[in-house]
Amino acid sequence: MHTCCKICQSILVRLRVKCRFQQTTDISVEENNKTWSGRFSEPVAQLVQRYTASVEFDYRLAEHDIRGSIAHARMLAATGIIQTDDLAAIEKGLAQIREDIRNGKFEWQLEQEDVHLNIERRLTALVGDAGKKLHTARSRNDQVATDIRLYLRAAIDDIIGLIHGLQHVLLDLAEQHAATIMPGFTHLQVAQPVSFGHHLLAYYEMLQRDGQRLQDCRKRVNQLPLGAAALAGTGYPVDRAMVARELGFDDICHNSLDAVSDRDFAIEFCAGAALIMMHLSRLSEELILWMNPAFGFIRLADRFCTGSSIMPQKKNPDVPELVRGKTGRINGHLVALLTLMKSQPLAYNKDNQEDKEPLFDTVDTLKDTLTIYADMLAGLHVNPEAMRQAALRGYSTATDLADYLVKKGTPFRDAHEAVAQAVRFAENKACDLSELPLADLQQFSAVISEDVFEVLTLEGSVRSRNHPGGTAPEQVREAICQARSQLPG
Ligand code: ARG
Repeated sequence: MHTCCKICQSILVRLRVKCRFQQTTDISVEENNKTWSGRFSEPVAQLVQRYTASVEFDYRLAEHDIRGSIAHARMLAATGIIQTDDLAAIEKGLAQIREDIRNGKFEWQLEQEDVHLNIERRLTALVGDAGKKLHTARSRNDQVATDIRLYLRAAIDDIIGLIHGLQHVLLDLAEQHAATIMPGFTHLQVAQPVSFGHHLLAYYEMLQRDGQRLQDCRKRVNQLPLGAAALAGTGYPVDRAMVARELGFDDICHNSLDAVSDRDFAIEFCAGAALIMMHLSRLSEELILWMNPAFGFIRLADRFCTGSSIMPQKKNPDVPELVRGKTGRINGHLVALLTLMKSQPLAYNKDNQEDKEPLFDTVDTLKDTLTIYADMLAGLHVNPEAMRQAALRGYSTATDLADYLVKKGTPFRDAHEAVAQAVRFAENKACDLSELPLADLQQFSAVISEDVFEVLTLEGSVRSRNHPGGTAPEQVREAICQARSQLPG
């Protein structure tokens, strides 16, 4: 308990919240607080205190807040706004606070409202007057905007790394299955045979765009709000470029009003995250279908499945189901942020405090999903024979037969009709086109000869689509080579 709490004999309630630096963090809630200045004639009501506080979740910004404060203090000293011994005291105090937070020794107080005030008040308690000078030429408005940008920049870098990791797993799996044939679907009906490796590479491409999108978003994240102060800038001779350099920002935000109120970068990130989740939800849907015994194409490793409490035979694909489900949650966060910003007048408004939980949850969910997905795909059991049998069942080479007729001079529409008749005939006989005797096939077109059977095989069909972007195993291997040469690590 803080000394001041002992003096005022306040009641402390302990909130236990999850913390990034340790298992749980205690936040003390003090009644009869006196956070605000002499401007106020009565204490804030307790419910209001709880309602307006953000420390329960924004404590996660602590590392970034401290980093931003150190850069700000260095600039204040370099420009002569504070003395060098003040800077030394501030740096020492902040280092101590960082240690305490990392070790779970820092006492978070709800009455100090947010991460910024908690750290600043503790700094002053530790180093005295120098601590009170840290907030010169700064407001929590530009401070919080800076913290979120630092947080999100680090998160984007982590997420891009995780995307690349998943892409590597897809490439490895695609390489193993470059020549594994499965039915390709349109309308979820058997369409044409494709290489399973080729199918996987489609997801590689989606993730490639996802990574590029986040990389692009990072440029707009990586701009410095500090210096904007509350909204109008500051009368002190600040050096914003120096702070930007110190914090690794590419540039400063060019308009102070925009700097404190802009959350586009967070929305953009959430839109990028929603696209990633949407892509993974599609793959999840496929894994769930493929795992159904009616397909039997794959098996997920047991560690990614759960059983049923009533049906002993069940093995449920919980992980892909949850990825599908969590996609809704990420979409929700995107809509929450868009709605948060809608119609907000300039400049900073307290509404913006609501940006953090959706953003944090988006980052957490996305990181977990990408990590678990890479692991799950690396342990995937594939059943090439089941895929092959399914491709044989759906007349998947009918288009190849039509193309064969076209190559022998039949106009495409006539070829299409002839093959449709042949499929109907084979269906009545409950066999594949390739199983019909030559004489039967010739009823539908006189140009058909013995060489037709090469075209009707799954392998022949897949092999014939031999151009960049096509499903021929040769092309799949080439695409994997190209992808590997571009993908980091
Ligand atoms: N906790 C606040 C937020 O997250 C910090 C900025 C508060 N600024 C203010 N003027 N009340 O947005």
